[in-house]
Amino acid sequence: MTNPGIKAFAPASVANVACGFDILGFALKNPGDFVVARHADHSDGLRITKITGDQGKLPRDVRKNTATVAVQALLDHLGESSTSIDLEIQKKMPFGSGLGSSAASAVAAVVAVNKLLGAPYTKSELLPFAVLGEQSADGAYHADNVAPALLGGLILIQDTASLRWVRVPLPKGLVALVVHPKIEVLTRSAREIIQPTVSLELHSKQAANLGGLILGMMQSDFELIGASLQDLIIEPQRMKLIPHFGEVKTAAIQEGALGCSISGAGPSIFALFNNTLLAENAAAKMSTIFHQKGIEATAYLSTINQEGAYIC
Ligand code: HSE
Repeated sequence: MTNPGIKAFAPASVANVACGFDILGFALKNPGDFVVARHADHSDGLRITKITGDQGKLPRDVRKNTATVAVQALLDHLGESSTSIDLEIQKKMPFGSGLGSSAASAVAAVVAVNKLLGAPYTKSELLPFAVLGEQSADGAYHADNVAPALLGGLILIQDTASLRWVRVPLPKGLVALVVHPKIEVLTRSAREIIQPTVSLELHSKQAANLGGLILGMMQSDFELIGASLQDLIIEPQRMKLIPHFGEVKTAAIQEGALGCSISGAGPSIFALFNNTLLAENAAAKMSTIFHQKGIEATAYLSTINQEGAYIC
């Protein structure tokens, strides 16, 4: 009989949320990745036995795959560096999409292996290992995809170095729409084009928006959420990587979105709503714009996932 192992799920996530570059993100209900972890009787340590759904694009080398980098960091920390574990990664979301694909794999992998080893750590204690996995994909240390994928909800990383995080209370009735045009934008490249400095004026405005967004969420003030859901720094620099971004964003706002911006490093575009019907109409409109330009697009409509990763 095959060893069923332990299977974990981790969801897609929207990082930045317009005004919180590298420090704010929320989890979607779907899509998400699955990872199965099994004890193995070879002596090769950690191995990737199978990856499905990646069209052969992801590294099979355990030193390069986000899932195994994260798990190896966990094993090293536990003093179990040479424990033999086989991982099977089931990718259910596109790569280079702005949906937090690499974070989801890293999170699902550490959650599965932690359980396989008798759950020595709580979910929140797994965060640093998953962040190291994510860092191996884009070269930067940020937890704005990994933290919501692991913990669920809208998460503010108050201090990236120490990974101190806070869960932001959410209003009832918030709906997230993410439209993914089928083009690939690698996070590493989307980070390279960002100017390293920002004017004091823009910094002030963006800080005011971040404060307004958090307060709007806490006070269920949809008007304040809408006014604050703006990215004055990163979106203007990255929008050129996403064909027809302006047109698609305008359609979202016209259909009643509270706000709309780039999901993570793109090319996905997210919008928030306080009404499911409006979100459904916007999903159709935004996808149609891409289709009319000859670009395939998929829309994901979801309430905010409050649970994050789980054992299946
Ligand atoms: N905050 C990151 C970025 C998210 O925008 O580059 C992508 O992983």
